[in-house]
Amino acid sequence: MTEPAYVEAVALEKFYVMPHGKVEVLKGMSLQIQRGEHVCIMGASGSGKSTLMHLLAGLDTPDGGEVRIEGESIHTWKESKRANFRAKHIGVVFQNYHLLPDLNVLENVLIPARALNTWREPASDVVALAKSRLKSVGLLHRLEHRPVELSGGEQQRLAVARALINEPEILMADEPTGNLDAETGDQVLDDLFRLSEEKKRTLVIVTHDPRLAARCHRTIRLG
Ligand SMILES: Nc1ncnc2c1ncn2[C@@H]1O[C@H](COP(=O)(O)OP(=O)(O)OP(=O)(O)O)[C@@H](O)[C@H]1O
Ligand SMILES: [Mg+2]
Repeated sequence: MTEPAYVEAVALEKFYVMPHGKVEVLKGMSLQIQRGEHVCIMGASGSGKSTLMHLLAGLDTPDGGEVRIEGESIHTWKESKRANFRAKHIGVVFQNYHLLPDLNVLENVLIPARALNTWREPASDVVALAKSRLKSVGLLHRLEHRPVELSGGEQQRLAVARALINEPEILMADEPTGNLDAETGDQVLDDLFRLSEEKKRTLVIVTHDPRLAARCHRTIRLG
């Protein structure tokens, strides 16, 4: 028997019912991603890239079809099991970051680590790891800042550092360098690809940037 794909979408459908009619975003999308693959998702604005990424991460429910991880249909799981799986195995960089406004930079990076532990105060090795992630995205001098006190690109780099803190098996990133100048973007990506190679991590990256797409093993096009 052949191994199931690591992450798989089978005939995925997503639509929104709006007052003026139905908006069909995904109409039977299927894809397979193997463990350790670096896949990029491209397509015009509005073609459904973010929608697809949220479905693959189990953050949204399809209207038809299913998402399977290691052959298991994740939408048959209870929400608590899905949330737990996500916390342990999936890192997500959202297109609009979803940073928590009342937490500072260090506290924001620690959110996924906190989700896996019950501590009140993080252990010193977890704080050291958080700082090393922030150092690699050039934010070590901004630990006490809140997101509103950061530039757009700094917020984006914080979102990347946060997604990587647990060294997730699967990293899903929605235009992770869209707000960065070429040099800073390259530094963030060098770090991200180096980590992914070293630890054989699976990457799913939404981008409009052909240079980033060229660094991935494969491109999936929507629309
Ligand atoms: N909650 C919603 N209600 C209604 N329509 C929605 C909703 N979310 C997304 N859409 C529509 O679904 C389509 C796909 O949106 P999505 O955000 O997935 O696109 P995208 O490919 O990520 O675009 P971009 O490159 O601009 O980020 C868009 O036309 C959008 O207007
Ligand atoms: Mg999008």
